Amino acid sequence: MEINGKTGVFGVIGNPVDHTCSPAMHNAAYKHLKLNYIYIPMFVEKTFIPDAVKAVRALNIKGINVTIPYKEYVIPYLDKLDPVAKKIGAVNTIVNKNGCLEGYNTDGNGLVISLESEAGIDLTSKSIGLLGAGGSAKSIAFSLTQKNIKKLVIYNRTFSKARKLKEDLEQNSSIEIQACGYENNDYLKELQDNDIVINTTSAGMKPDEDQLPVPDMSWVKPGHFCCDIIYKPSKTLFLKKAELSGAEILNGSGMLAGQGVLAFELFTGYKIPFHIMKNEIN
Ligand code: ATR
Repeated sequence: MEINGKTGVFGVIGNPVDHTCSPAMHNAAYKHLKLNYIYIPMFVEKTFIPDAVKAVRALNIKGINVTIPYKEYVIPYLDKLDPVAKKIGAVNTIVNKNGCLEGYNTDGNGLVISLESEAGIDLTSKSIGLLGAGGSAKSIAFSLTQKNIKKLVIYNRTFSKARKLKEDLEQNSSIEIQACGYENNDYLKELQDNDIVINTTSAGMKPDEDQLPVPDMSWVKPGHFCCDIIYKPSKTLFLKKAELSGAEILNGSGMLAGQGVLAFELFTGYKIPFHIMKNEIN
């Protein structure tokens, strides 16, 4: 790759950023389409976030992704917020349109791409269970409730957070939404009634590899589709147990590729095949 005076610069800001796959994914996409762009990791301390966002404008950086822990924190420094990102309250993609910084969130739709295109699932009329009620759950739930699903049930260790997310979602959707805690064993029957169950919690991710997002996995049956948004390890304890009980499984590498494909399109205006980005995730 030749870098010259016309090379367009993109990047990702976060803390940490040393394990991010985004530079490999986006640079592979530029190479595939022969675009004169480069994408670099940018480690930013929290106190420098306002300066870092201003620098995007000052240095004519064409776009940046935002990763943990800054997805909410960058919002006050943007010029425009996409309505979806506004409702979710988190931004993972900032596009610099001639000095105007626009914030988007492609995380939830990234998972939808993975489920529909990669796993070949038709979400129409499906009952979907979501484990967790944090930031990741919110972006995924928002995207799923824009699809023609039958119902969404949010399960969370802290029931009040599941109820709050349900109430937020109901303001933007007419889909049936339920909230469920783990106080009694009713959740087991509830979970079994879903077609698809998605883990959005960090239970199972390093260093919590021995943790499960639900207290009991006896609800899993053949015919269930179990998905984890974690991609390291590539098979979490949740996915291992689900697979042993006969469920089909999918890890989070497709969601990562999917959010990248959507961010790439917002950044460049071009479409990139899903597998070009997916191949770069290790
Ligand atoms: P993120 O932005 O990654 O979603 P978050 O907003 O901090 O992170 O939310 C983390 C979610 O994972 C929460 O739903 C949390 O449950 P609580 O609301 O009860 O805290 C859930 N979570 C984290 N660790 C968990 C564990 N070991 N078991 C079950 N749920 C867990």
